[in-house]
Amino acid sequence: MQNNSIQIAENDNRYLLLDQYIDSYQDKKGISLNVLQKAQSLFGYLPLEVHKHISFKLGVPIAELYGVTTFYSQFTTEPKGKHTVSVCMGTVCYVKKAQQVIEEVSKILDIKVDQTTMDAMFTLEATRCLGCCSLAPVMMIDSDVFANIHDTSEIWGIIKDYKEGSADNDSL
Ligand code: FES
Repeated sequence: MQNNSIQIAENDNRYLLLDQYIDSYQDKKGISLNVLQKAQSLFGYLPLEVHKHISFKLGVPIAELYGVTTFYSQFTTEPKGKHTVSVCMGTVCYVKKAQQVIEEVSKILDIKVDQTTMDAMFTLEATRCLGCCSLAPVMMIDSDVFANIHDTSEIWGIIKDYKEGSADNDSL
C-alpha cells in the first residue's frame, strides 16, 4: 500500500466502543494517554480523524494529542500490516551489509521502509540495534528473529512462510 490513507467511516462502531471507554471515566482530566492506547487497540493506528474525535470528546487540542502520539513509539499514525518486518540498521548490522537485506525485503514486498503492502500483510521497518549484534545482520518478523542473513536469497523463503501462514516461532 504505497499510500496508507485508509479512511475510517464516521459511523464505524469502534468509535462507539471508544466513547464508552471515555465515558467510563468520571474525571476526564489527564486520560489522553489511556484513551490513545485504547483507540490504537481498537483501530490499529491513530489517523487524524481519530485524533479529531478524541479531541472533541476530551476537549483537548489535537496538537496536544499529536504531541503524545509522536512522543511514544508505541503509537503509530499509519496502518500496519498483519506482520511487521524489522530490519536492524544498527552499526554492526549496517557494517555486515544490512542495507542489502532491507533492499531485498523492499524488493520482495514492493514497498519502501515505513510502508505497508496493498494486501495489508506486511509493514517494513528499519530499526536500531536489536541487541543481538553477534548475529548480524539481523531481521525480525513480528517477534521472530532471523540471524546471520548473509545470503539475501534466503529472504524470499522466510517471507513466503509468513505469507502462507506456515511460519513457526522458532526461527533463531
Ligand atoms: S546492530 Fe543489529 S543487532 Fe545490534
